[in-house]
Amino acid sequence: MILVTGATGTVGRALIDQLRTAGERVRATSRQPADAQLPADVEVVRADLGDPSQMAAAMRGVDRVFLLSTGPAIPEHDAIVARAAADAGVERLVKLSSGRTGDDTATDPIPTWHRAGEQSVRTSGVPWTIVRPLGFMSNALHWAGTIRVRGAVYAPYGQGRIAVIDPRDIAAVAAVALTADGHDGQVYTLSGPQALSPGEQTAVLGEVLGRSLEFVEVAPEQARQAIVEHGVPAEMADAIMALRATALAAFTSVVHDTVERLTGAPPRTFRQWAIDHAAEFRSAAA
Ligand SMILES: NC(=O)c1ccc[n+]([C@@H]2O[C@H](COP(=O)([O-])OP(=O)(O)OC[C@H]3O[C@@H](n4cnc5c(N)ncnc54)[C@H](OP(=O)(O)O)[C@@H]3O)[C@@H](O)[C@H]2O)c1
Repeated sequence: MILVTGATGTVGRALIDQLRTAGERVRATSRQPADAQLPADVEVVRADLGDPSQMAAAMRGVDRVFLLSTGPAIPEHDAIVARAAADAGVERLVKLSSGRTGDDTATDPIPTWHRAGEQSVRTSGVPWTIVRPLGFMSNALHWAGTIRVRGAVYAPYGQGRIAVIDPRDIAAVAAVALTADGHDGQVYTLSGPQALSPGEQTAVLGEVLGRSLEFVEVAPEQARQAIVEHGVPAEMADAIMALRATALAAFTSVVHDTVERLTGAPPRTFRQWAIDHAAEFRSAAA
């Protein structure tokens, strides 16, 4: 039995699809199981990553764990999960981290949180694998509202390129690490096949949608304000902005061959991702 945390999120849902296809039994955690909308054969248990007793209960009968945590609580939550996994005698722990955790010059919050989380996993005594993706292609969904309404993308750091990755390819690597031998103690940095700037992603989206889209570079402060207005707490908004600024650094534009090496299939292109998500960028009337 594999326990998937973060099961109702972007990577977690894709991972559950792939594990079910591979014939694995899956237990999923959610803070709101009634709203989880997961397939009927997935056992959904209520568990908060910050609650040691709920996590201990969720681990009963589990031999492998996928750990996905988010935000400022990553260090605390990863420590709780790593401890619970060790106590439960789990045989394999796969942590979703962040690509820039491997950039020694990155001192902004998100890689710092993940480094602390990774440390708990490494010292847990449970055989572990760490998966460090660069930026997700699905971050482009944040542009869907202005694309639908104004035919435009507003984003900061227009010159920065990131080798963005399809979350399904992150899930595919995690599935391999969970189900195949030979990945203990490995750290995998993942990217998509090509580094793209926000303007280049906008152009691909326009081609796929069959409309011309405008890319408008905005000041970082304006972008931060938009995130806060979306309801994101200030600490997290600052962390996201610090991360976005690093798109200007070379580190995030490096293409890695890890997805193909581990899964046997080349990573999906941004065009493929955009085709598969086109409906989310089209207005109901279109
Ligand atoms: N976006 C990027 O470009 C990027 C790049 C590299 C790495 N990452 C990393 O990827 C991770 C985010 O993955 P994602 O986008 O798939 O996540 P997501 O879609 O934001 O989903 C977050 C999941 O975490 C669960 N969750 C949140 N707080 C929880 C808590 N206290 N206890 C239990 N579950 C909790 C939620 O489940 P419920 O609400 O059902 O409880 C949800 O399933 C983060 O670690 C981030 O640093 C992101």
